[in-house]
Amino acid sequence: MMVLITGSNGLLGQKIVRQLINSGVEYTASSKGENRNPDCPANHYLSLDILSQEDIITVFHQVKPTHIIHTAALTNVDYCELNPEMCYALNVKATALLFNEANKINAHFQLLSTDFIFDGENGPYTETDTPNPLSHYATSKWQAEQLLNEASNKNWSIVRTIIVYGQGHQLSRSNLIVWARDTLLSKQEISVVDDQFRAPTWADDLAWACIQICVLGKVGVFNACGPETLSIYDIVLRIARFYDCDQSLIKKTNSNTLNQAAKRPPKTGLVLTKSMAEIGYNPKKLEETLELLD
Ligand SMILES: NC(=O)c1ccc[n+]([C@@H]2O[C@H](COP(=O)([O-])OP(=O)(O)OC[C@H]3O[C@@H](n4cnc5c(N)ncnc54)[C@H](OP(=O)(O)O)[C@@H]3O)[C@@H](O)[C@H]2O)c1
Repeated sequence: MMVLITGSNGLLGQKIVRQLINSGVEYTASSKGENRNPDCPANHYLSLDILSQEDIITVFHQVKPTHIIHTAALTNVDYCELNPEMCYALNVKATALLFNEANKINAHFQLLSTDFIFDGENGPYTETDTPNPLSHYATSKWQAEQLLNEASNKNWSIVRTIIVYGQGHQLSRSNLIVWARDTLLSKQEISVVDDQFRAPTWADDLAWACIQICVLGKVGVFNACGPETLSIYDIVLRIARFYDCDQSLIKKTNSNTLNQAAKRPPKTGLVLTKSMAEIGYNPKKLEETLELLD
């Protein structure tokens, strides 16, 4: 096995690299520009801009991967809404280039996708429920999924997840759980919506699922999120309780007041029955993971 990871400077990419180092599985990490993950040894890193077909061909030739875990994406939902061309270039066209190259060498191609492909009217969702994306980001991810679905080669997997959280090195952006914890611990007010429901996902659990699907030779769509679907307000309340913070700092608001560029699905959540049965997925509860945050 030789696993090539795209987006290894990102949160999930960093967790996958760390687990692969400890597993003994051969891997090459790649991301745009310099390696920003000190856990990843220099001789396991290649710079790969997934917008460049030339870069992709060179790296595939050098690495000869048997598995590609494609985490790189434009993940800022509002930025995608305001920059749709960039969003489709990175999330759809670059996925097509990578998948095409993977097919040439019959390597397994794994795509990371999102609960946002659903409209949030009937969550939680199984792997076979019908998507109805509400934003450019969501549409781009669904279009990327369709590239795989429509291909004659079935050597691929799609891993759908929700609000990924954890800590990493020099990340481009924070995440809900770390932001809420830091805000509450610094005794600042925090406004959060009580009309959006999500199942926050510990990045290490998700990384484990991505690797396990490859190791077990699974194909098809797999849900991999946290075990509990909660309102964002309740998630932040649980964080405040865990750290014994002043709960009056948490101000309840709703989606209409936020003026976010991209529309969000109200209630998602993903059904985990298949992942639990087929790969032994057993994600941690929020409080168990808070104990592990630095
Ligand atoms: N985070 C979530 O809540 C969430 C929820 C559902 C699904 N997902 C999906 O899960 C995957 C991983 O998410 P994440 O949280 O790890 O995202 P992330 O932290 O934003 O990581 C994405 C990585 O992609 C890299 N990248 C951007 N443009 C690139 C390019 N042209 N070539 C190569 N790499 C490039 C970024 O590099 P820089 O760091 O240099 O910008 C970043 O390191 C994504 O596919 C995302 O759509 C995430």
